Formats: sequence, structure tokens, C-alpha cells
Amino acid sequence: MKRPPTRILVLHGPNLDLLGEREPEVYGTITLARLDAMLRRHARTRGALLRIFQDNCEGSLIDLIHEHRRWAQAIVFNPGAYAHYSYALRDAVAAVGLPTSEVHLSDVRKREPFRRRSVIAPVCLAAISGRGVGSYLAAIDRLAEALRKGSQPLKMRNLRPA
Ligand code: DQA
Repeated sequence: MKRPPTRILVLHGPNLDLLGEREPEVYGTITLARLDAMLRRHARTRGALLRIFQDNCEGSLIDLIHEHRRWAQAIVFNPGAYAHYSYALRDAVAAVGLPTSEVHLSDVRKREPFRRRSVIAPVCLAAISGRGVGSYLAAIDRLAEALRKGSQPLKMRNLRPA
């Protein structure tokens, strides 16, 4: 019998709407529309269904996490610069308790010191950066696998301190 698709919410944070024209030497030349098309195609091969959103505002990203919390089984989240300081987004991820993978196109560990720290990663199942589009693809694979193995909701896992 065919399994129902795994439902994954993909969130792109601030400035990712400008992919393709924004600092191409850092983020590449792929546009957000092309990136999303690649993600949908990849997800299909993994039996996953995506809902994808981009928003520049912290509060709107929080609302999206809340609104889709019952539909989604997992979240792929590129919080952009919010990764480095938004405790509100961290709390939103922790509040819904869905297995989440933080992703970054660039290698945040090898850039300015302020990018080395993520306040969201400690409430995520995984944090993947520096692989361009591959960061997102790896996150989809990782989450699909975790769900297949029956990942525990976040609330039931022990969280690492920040
Ligand atoms: C980013 C890395 C962040 O530090 C930066 O603020 C972004 C993009 C990435 O995908 O590499 O907006 O999240």
C-alpha cells in the first residue's frame, strides 16, 4: 500500500526573496522560484509534499509556523539573519515541537563572527549550512528519514542548552 506523503513546511526568511541578485558571490545565482521548484521536485522523489513560504518579517514567520503546525510533520527553516539573534523564532520552533532542520546556503561558520552562532539550532534536529541548494535537499532527506524512523517530538527530547 502506498504511504501518504510526508508533509514538510519550508520557510525562507528575510532577504531570500532577492536570491539570484543578492550577493551572488555568496549565495549563487539561483532565484528563489527556481530553488523552490528544485525542492518540490526533490521532495516528490522522497515521497514528501512541501508548503513553501518566504517572508521578511519575524512575526509573520512565527505566524506561519503556528498556522501550519497541524498540517506539517517537519520544518525546513532558513531563518536568514534571524538565526543569529531571534529568540522569538527559536521559541516558535520549540513551541510547536516539530522536527526542524535549520539550513543556510552559505557556510555561516566561515563568515563574519556574528554568523557563527545560531540561537535556533539548539531546538533543531539538524543544522546544515554551506552546501547551497544542497543544504535544503539534505535537510529534506534528513527529516524524511527521521520521520520514517519515528522522530520524537521536540518536547520529548532533551534539548541542548543554548
Ligand atoms: C543565510 C545566512 C545568514 O547569515 C544571512 O543573514 C542570510 C542568508 C544563508 O542562507 O546562507 O540571510 O541564512
